[in-house]
Amino acid sequence: MKKNPFDLTGKSAIVTGASSGLGKQFAIALAEAGANVAIFARRKQKLEETKEALIALGSDAIAVSCDVTDTKGIKKAIKEVEEKYGRIDILVNNAGVATVSPSEIHTDEEWNRVINTNLNAVFFVAREVGKIMIDQKYGKIINIGSIHSNVAIPNLPITAYCASKGGVQMLTKALAVEWAKHNITVNAIGPSYFPTEMTDAALTSPAFQEQIKAQCPIGRTGRPEELDGAILYFASDASSFTTGQLLSVDGGWTAI
Ligand SMILES: NC(=O)c1ccc[n+]([C@@H]2O[C@H](COP(=O)([O-])OP(=O)(O)OC[C@H]3O[C@@H](n4cnc5c(N)ncnc54)[C@H](OP(=O)(O)O)[C@@H]3O)[C@@H](O)[C@H]2O)c1
Repeated sequence: MKKNPFDLTGKSAIVTGASSGLGKQFAIALAEAGANVAIFARRKQKLEETKEALIALGSDAIAVSCDVTDTKGIKKAIKEVEEKYGRIDILVNNAGVATVSPSEIHTDEEWNRVINTNLNAVFFVAREVGKIMIDQKYGKIINIGSIHSNVAIPNLPITAYCASKGGVQMLTKALAVEWAKHNITVNAIGPSYFPTEMTDAALTSPAFQEQIKAQCPIGRTGRPEELDGAILYFASDASSFTTGQLLSVDGGWTAI
């Protein structure tokens, strides 16, 4: 029988920011496909809840407390994963934050927090995991971008977020080109709006819901499980000849 190209049995993965939201969903999708998943975030209790859900799916999951903006902490966390699994096949660089602030009053602190978490940390984690993937001559890196990797949005001042996610797309291309020779693919996913802690405030606004209906051809927010296909494609050998790409999962938002 032909092997299922999306099967992740025996693979080991890291998902950053898996204590909630899309990161938790990505970890579950990988575990359901057979991967052992190490999850990183700062909130220990919520991380443990995700870990229990993964173990219930048969994954040999571990929860690792890690602030992805702390380069020493990243190295320690990745060492723990390498010791546990012996290799790291998949990295989902998902941890992220958003801030809503008109640019003319945007503080240095908030700008730096968004860029440090959404862009700098994506590079720092990829750099450390990349060393292991280069040695093992195999790796699948998936960075979580956004529709705001490509387009801004009226009525929602999120310039730091847009800048960070635009950076994620170019970082994805540059790493893909640099590490192709090591049999590492680097791709990105660009979701539109999905209900999570990050989007809770915006999505409870009736005016913003109307804006989504107007800007998104499918006319609604996404359901987290509608990202499963994209993550499994990029995490598995189904995408062995695809690198440097951002796949928009956005109900057609960026098609218009
Ligand atoms: N929801 C959407 O509509 C949407 C759309 C496009 C892209 N995205 C992207 O999807 C990713 C996940 O967002 P979400 O919507 O699922 O939001 P969320 O529920 O707020 O999750 C964010 C995750 O990132 C983690 N995190 C934040 N700062 C961190 C840090 N310094 N160190 C370690 N972990 C950190 C949080 O964990 P702790 O607080 O426990 O550390 C949490 O698990 C983000 O990159 C976001 O930009 C989301």
